[in-house]
Amino acid sequence: MEIIILPTPADVGRVAADLIASVVRAKPAAVLGLATGSSPLDIYRSLAARVASGDLDVSEASGFALDEYVGIPLEHPESYASVIARDVVGPLGMDPARVRVPDGRAADIEAATADYDRAIAEAGGVDIQILGIGANGHIGFNEPTSSFSSRTRIKTLAPSTREANARFFDDPDDVPTHCLTQGLGTILEARHVVLVAQGAGKADAVAAAVEGPLSAMCPGSALQLHQHATVIVDEAAASRLT
Ligand code: F6R
Repeated sequence: MEIIILPTPADVGRVAADLIASVVRAKPAAVLGLATGSSPLDIYRSLAARVASGDLDVSEASGFALDEYVGIPLEHPESYASVIARDVVGPLGMDPARVRVPDGRAADIEAATADYDRAIAEAGGVDIQILGIGANGHIGFNEPTSSFSSRTRIKTLAPSTREANARFFDDPDDVPTHCLTQGLGTILEARHVVLVAQGAGKADAVAAAVEGPLSAMCPGSALQLHQHATVIVDEAAASRLT
């Protein structure tokens, strides 16, 4: 595992964007694994600036989101389908037809999640997966106790995750209780995983993921099993590393 510690959150975004841009330049039809939440926003901004200046073309790439809420309409501004369209597909000039988000409204969740994993495999697998980490160590929405071999499936959000994400909703009670998430096993199949974290609130989770024992209580620790994992953090998020 490679750990890169940088002074500011903007540096984290720029350096992670460098990695993604180099994958896309080498392989224009690359498959990108897309995280939502606050952590990757500087990456998307940095990539969007390169696209706007003509320095990068992401139009042939495809993308798979990590997760989606269950129980809110697709057109809700905080559905991850909306977030990915607004923060990623539009600004990066990706082809919407090549970007998928798990279908949180599917009548048959089991079939939809199995189909999602199949679609990733049929696309040739994820070339580079962007990840954030929850303060409780989750990656995707694989909350503590998730199996390291789990596949895309429905999960219950931890109360602390619902509290953390309440900032995106008008009322904390509006935060969905369930989600679909790529499993840890699914995430580990990406050829390169890039986890970004900023701020002191992530310091314990980063330390547990990077230096702690492999444990289902810290799903991020599964990345220690990956042969090409890069963790890019600012100094505050690195402050609990030894
Ligand atoms: C989002 C996701 C989550 C977030 C994590 C951190 O697609 O899978 O694991 O990366 O909850 O969220 P932020 O970045 O908002 O602190």
